[in-house]
Amino acid sequence: DAMETIYTWYGHATHSLKVGESQLLIDPYFSGNPATTLKPEQVSADYILITHGHGDHIGDTVSIAKRTDALCVSNAEISAWLRDKGLRTHAQHIGGGHRYPFGYLKLTPALHGSALPDGSYGGNPAGFLLTTPDEKRIYIAGDTGLFGDMQLIGDEGIDLAVLPIGDNYTMGPDDALRAVKLLRPKMVIPVHYNTWEVIAQDPQAWKVRIEAETESKVIVLAPGESLSL
Ligand code: NI
Ligand code: MN
Repeated sequence: DAMETIYTWYGHATHSLKVGESQLLIDPYFSGNPATTLKPEQVSADYILITHGHGDHIGDTVSIAKRTDALCVSNAEISAWLRDKGLRTHAQHIGGGHRYPFGYLKLTPALHGSALPDGSYGGNPAGFLLTTPDEKRIYIAGDTGLFGDMQLIGDEGIDLAVLPIGDNYTMGPDDALRAVKLLRPKMVIPVHYNTWEVIAQDPQAWKVRIEAETESKVIVLAPGESLSL
């Protein structure tokens, strides 16, 4: 099936999506990521999507994009910062969508910060809502606290939601449960936990709670594992 979509979690909030022939990396944090042994020179990318400027999200974007010539997609501020480093970019902003060969990608709000590693202004942080060419809808929340407009995002009909549950920097397990109730996804993958002690969580216990209190199914991946949609 040419349009098969494969989501892979590399640990923390580093992900990839293979949509048909397109290889997407999202928040490619490999160097210094305690959750993966994969090196940035081992990954391929046609597109790199960046939710916000923090080091554990912009990660190895510059080196990977230089090697692969991937198109970097982010908000206007981060796109300008990457363009100044000689990378190919496409700037979008929150609420705006654009059609790519891998589908229609919209930037969603996120409640968080977005300073870049050198202190540059990184604009507002974002999440991604992707509708693939065969109409699968994937929501990657990025780093965020709970917000009521997740209800509006949920109204679009989500097949897979990828949500932070680590607490401290983002939603913790309780607010992530409330997020699932607003988003109403068919499936949920928890991320942004267990990278460091300060965000230690039990994803299996969270799965039990979600599946008891909502209609959503939780898929707990180990770093490096994939889900085919
Ligand atoms: Ni962050
Ligand atoms: Mn983070």
